[in-house]
Amino acid sequence: MAKKLANNVAIIGCGPGAISHMTLRALKCIQEADVIVGSRRLLNLFPEVRAEKLVLGRNYRPLLTKIGRLRARKKVVVLVSGDPGFFSYARLVVTRLGKENCDVIPGISSIQLAFASIKLHWCDARFVSLHGRKTELDNLVEVVKTHDKVAVLNDTSISPKLVCHALKKGGVKGKKVYLCENLSLDNENIKEYDLTSISKANSNNNMNVMIFVSEGFN
Ligand SMILES: C[S@@+](CC[C@H](N)C(=O)[O-])C[C@H]1O[C@@H](n2cnc3c(N)ncnc32)[C@H](O)[C@@H]1O
Repeated sequence: MAKKLANNVAIIGCGPGAISHMTLRALKCIQEADVIVGSRRLLNLFPEVRAEKLVLGRNYRPLLTKIGRLRARKKVVVLVSGDPGFFSYARLVVTRLGKENCDVIPGISSIQLAFASIKLHWCDARFVSLHGRKTELDNLVEVVKTHDKVAVLNDTSISPKLVCHALKKGGVKGKKVYLCENLSLDNENIKEYDLTSISKANSNNNMNVMIFVSEGFN
């Protein structure tokens, strides 16, 4: 008798947070799963799904071993925010399990929605992530200084004011700053500032993307 092949793990891009922004393919795959792995925020999007739920947090390394074991008997899906190809857990999962054992289902990145919201094209943008990498702040100063359009995945522990303060201190000037918070969610907030007026922004640990554009550039 032929040996039963293990299931591929599906890594699903859940978009910025609202179910309305997910693809039908992603939703179908989640409905059919036996096990769903994801942050508490993403798992909470699917209270009606009866699959076993494994919370992804600081346990992200041991969880890779568990996912690898579970896939032999179960359909495992891994939820990531936005698009899997853009600064996500997908990279570790694919590296550990092998490309041939994974399916990647794209989602709308927070960056895509941010650019769509401010109606600006993003093919000429540079990208930096501060998510879990505060040390990238120094690098960001150089990138914003030398590029006209820079999009930043900010960390909730770094206030947008602090990011702009670091940029000003590093000699950056003449930038429009778009602060895009809680994209797609009920408390979505998108506003335009400059490096100084952002001190008036009232942002309390909101998920956010920041876009810096040189004055006169679009
Ligand atoms: C680990 S990164 C994942 C990025 C994701 N793969 C993507 O394509 O958007 C998490 C960062 O994405 C951004 N983010 C995710 N969801 C967001 C939302 N609804 N509103 C604003 N920013 C969001 C924040 O900058 C957050 O720190």
